[in-house]
Amino acid sequence: MSQAILTIASIKKEFHTGQEKVEVLKDINLVVTEGTTVIISGESGSGKSTLLNLIAGMDFPTSGKIYIRNTDVTVLSEEEITQFRRNTIGFIFQFHFLLKGFNALENVMMPAFIAGVPGKKAKKRAEQLLMDVNLWHRRNHYLVQLSGGERQRIAVARSLMNNPDMIIADEPTGNLDEKNSKNVEDILFSLVERYKKTMILVTHDRGLAIRGNRHLSIEHGVLVGS
Ligand SMILES: Nc1ncnc2c1ncn2[C@@H]1O[C@H](COP(=O)(O)OP(=O)(O)OP(=O)(O)O)[C@@H](O)[C@H]1O
Ligand SMILES: [Mg+2]
Repeated sequence: MSQAILTIASIKKEFHTGQEKVEVLKDINLVVTEGTTVIISGESGSGKSTLLNLIAGMDFPTSGKIYIRNTDVTVLSEEEITQFRRNTIGFIFQFHFLLKGFNALENVMMPAFIAGVPGKKAKKRAEQLLMDVNLWHRRNHYLVQLSGGERQRIAVARSLMNNPDMIIADEPTGNLDEKNSKNVEDILFSLVERYKKTMILVTHDRGLAIRGNRHLSIEHGVLVGS
């Protein structure tokens, strides 16, 4: 039987701005088994990005627990979580966040540079990933020489660089036209399957939502669906 890779138990998240308190997540519970793709949708402001930030340990919940395998990410120090995240989670955002002064290959390698992985090994893996996203011919191109779809495909390759267990994607095709969205989507889903990754993906796109193994939505601070 597949093991749980992510367990979210009774998560609550409030934000305080001045006198005002906003309770964004009220009671979130979720168990994700390894190798599953979970799609999360919900209205703008419903707390999707907030939830992804909590899973990635970029922010702390007001109460509740989040386990990635057996590690409780809500109790790790800043330093511990940074270290843990590096080899556990790959990110893809709506905006690519590629670095201007580096070419496509170097951008894919960036998570390895940061983790201090030796250059040669990292380069080999980055080259493979660039081939995987059909951008081998663009390896020496810089950001300004790349199209929106190409940039997002590089972001997909980069998310896999450190061979994380889990991919977290927040509207990964949100900035693309229909044709490019479909292309990035197809590549992302095929790589997640080939490399046997677990994926948590947030999207407004109904077409994309049905491609997951599970489709949930955040409504009034709780997860609805199965
Ligand atoms: N750091 C913060 N301080 C105060 N309020 C915040 C903070 N971060 C998020 N919020 C509020 O929490 C709510 C949820 O925000 P979040 O970004 O998670 O929404 P979302 O579902 O990702 O929306 P979208 O689809 O527009 O990206 C919003 O009302 C937002 O204003
Ligand atoms: Mg968001």
